[in-house]
Amino acid sequence: MQDRSANGRIRRGEQPLGDTPPELFRNQLHQLADWIADFRQHIGELRVAPNDKPGAIRSALPSQPPEEGEEFETILGDIDRLIVPGMVHWSHPMFLGYFGWTQTGPGILGEIATAPLNVNAMTWRTSPAATELETVVVDWLRQWMKLPEQFGGVVYDTASVGIMHALAVAREEAAPSTRKLGLSGRNLPRFRIYTSDQAHSSVEKAAIALGLGEENVQRVPTDAEFRMDVAALRAMIERDLRSGGGRIKPLAAVATVGTTSTASVDPVPEIAKLCREHKIWLHVDGAYGGGFAILPEYEWLAAGWSDADSVVINPHKTLFVPLDFSILFVRDLERLRRVFTLVPEYLRADTIEAEKNYMDYGIQLGRRFRALKAWLIWRSLGRAGMAARLREQIRLAGLLADWIKDDKRFELAARVVLPVVCFRFVTGDKSKIDILNSEIVERINASGRAYLNQTKLRGQTVMRIGFGNVLTTEQHLADAWQLIQTTAEAVAKGD
Ligand SMILES: Cc1ncc(COP(=O)(O)O)c(C=O)c1O
Repeated sequence: MQDRSANGRIRRGEQPLGDTPPELFRNQLHQLADWIADFRQHIGELRVAPNDKPGAIRSALPSQPPEEGEEFETILGDIDRLIVPGMVHWSHPMFLGYFGWTQTGPGILGEIATAPLNVNAMTWRTSPAATELETVVVDWLRQWMKLPEQFGGVVYDTASVGIMHALAVAREEAAPSTRKLGLSGRNLPRFRIYTSDQAHSSVEKAAIALGLGEENVQRVPTDAEFRMDVAALRAMIERDLRSGGGRIKPLAAVATVGTTSTASVDPVPEIAKLCREHKIWLHVDGAYGGGFAILPEYEWLAAGWSDADSVVINPHKTLFVPLDFSILFVRDLERLRRVFTLVPEYLRADTIEAEKNYMDYGIQLGRRFRALKAWLIWRSLGRAGMAARLREQIRLAGLLADWIKDDKRFELAARVVLPVVCFRFVTGDKSKIDILNSEIVERINASGRAYLNQTKLRGQTVMRIGFGNVLTTEQHLADAWQLIQTTAEAVAKGD
């Protein structure tokens, strides 16, 4: 090895070929293992979020790309010095934003174990174990969700990609040959998609991507608990059928199990009934809430799913699989394959097997081996281990809701259905309450001591806490609540 010194390090000005020598690589892996273990052990001592101005991190990084290779130690040192302090630490026990997060030891091991394999899970031939393991873990989730066997699934990165594929199938079935001919110049009706005013914006994104048009996503009002008003949905569908003179066709309804702001749950069985009546595709967005159906006491969340056409669940939100890992289930997965299968000539010899070729189930050809990390974490925790952790999130959310109810300066802004708590500081000048709530969240996040969100409910600004981190204990929550109370008082006094 002329290009390395005796200890295997790169000598300045020399370009090594091939890979890192095995002993050096082993050494680096040990260093990285220590780095990961230290990070995980001490994450609670870090600021949850930085308070830097945009661009501050970039200005500390070299803007010129490297000409010569650098030592691993130097790069790791820069991660510590420049990257870690610039992160919002989603896995921090005081990170209470969004939907908490799914970081665990086994999850990290799953990511690490996947890295050296680095396969392309596009066809069975290119990766038999990745393909078959994907089928296995998808079916584990189907069983946990008690979805009928008719449902088959595919792993995507995100729920946004899942809904786009689901609605592509709905579009093809409502306007046959769209995959071949496209939508334009065919005198097709205007297709409508219905979803609640609390549903995620991925519905519009899917409509944009599929050429259905953002404006054709109709937002249905919700009831006092932020659930889709089914009578209003019926009225909207009937209005479209009447007023369009046959030029408007209801295409799909998207029901949400665990909405983004309050985690409310739409009445899926009633929506499913209406969809069947009008032959409308029903997609269930269980990206967040779906995973809680592994708890027997939350099986009601999955009511009506067996009548849906598609269901998306993000185990990276609730079921402890590290980002990214989302599963789309379709009743009769062949419907999805029919829309997306397209075998390029150079892969024809790779696709003759009877097994699934997952490239046929979506627009991606190259696919990561995501199933391995799910397999590792789900085997490590088991359903019971996940259930216990989800129950703890639910317990903590209930506790926080009780503390809020006991403090007259605050009020709950929505019923707590899943471990997401929306609340509002309501003391002082009524005209300033929105600004006060926003300021409280900004100040806490800037402090680096905790991290939460604000959202709007019926036009009012509220604070929002989402649980999920396995490191968050009752003591962390008590500290966060005290921080919220003292910050609220200070902001209200104008300090
Ligand atoms: C209810 C709901 N659906 C869908 C999504 C989109 O998820 P993804 O980031 O996996 O696309 C989110 C994101 O938070 C969500 O809250």
